[in-house]
Amino acid sequence: MGDYFAPLLKKSAGTPRIVDVTSGAGSIGNRMNPNGFGSEFQVIPYRVSKAAMNMVFACQHRGFEADGFKVFLYGPGPTVSNLSPNNAGPGMKPTSVGAAPIVEMVQGKRDGEAGKYLEYGVDSFPW
Ligand SMILES: NC(=O)c1ccc[n+]([C@@H]2O[C@H](COP(=O)([O-])OP(=O)(O)OC[C@H]3O[C@@H](n4cnc5c(N)ncnc54)[C@H](OP(=O)(O)O)[C@@H]3O)[C@@H](O)[C@H]2O)c1
Repeated sequence: MGDYFAPLLKKSAGTPRIVDVTSGAGSIGNRMNPNGFGSEFQVIPYRVSKAAMNMVFACQHRGFEADGFKVFLYGPGPTVSNLSPNNAGPGMKPTSVGAAPIVEMVQGKRDGEAGKYLEYGVDSFPW
């Protein structure tokens, strides 16, 4: 992924920024906690893909920070979308609310938080 996009982003007139969208479902620490958020969620391929996403983020952040890139890892938490039938139901925040932090990251308003795992509505989240 970085091989293809990084050369293009380096040509940016401004600061190059990447926002990787993860999920709490990819948190190994959370999954190891019997009472962790979403412990009933059994979609293993999705969990694995998001755990891998987290490593992609780590490699992008470490690989590109010297070039001035700002790389973010963001989990929106339960949000209305077409992801699954459950995402239309109760307990889901509006799509615009879940996506708002991404807009701020792209706009450069959260550059100080680059390189961190950011989960909507919580101060810190286990990897
Ligand atoms: N919603 C949640 O509660 C929640 C929670 C945690 C994390 N997330 C993450 O948030 C991100 C967005 O998901 P969502 O909830 O908004 O789901 P969604 O409504 O299903 O949206 C997924 C989007 O990805 C696009 N897409 C899928 N496969 C693609 C491909 N091969 N190439 C290009 N685009 C592709 C889809 O395009 P089309 O519309 O054209 O199919 C759609 O716009 C995902 O990474 C998801 O894991 C969501």
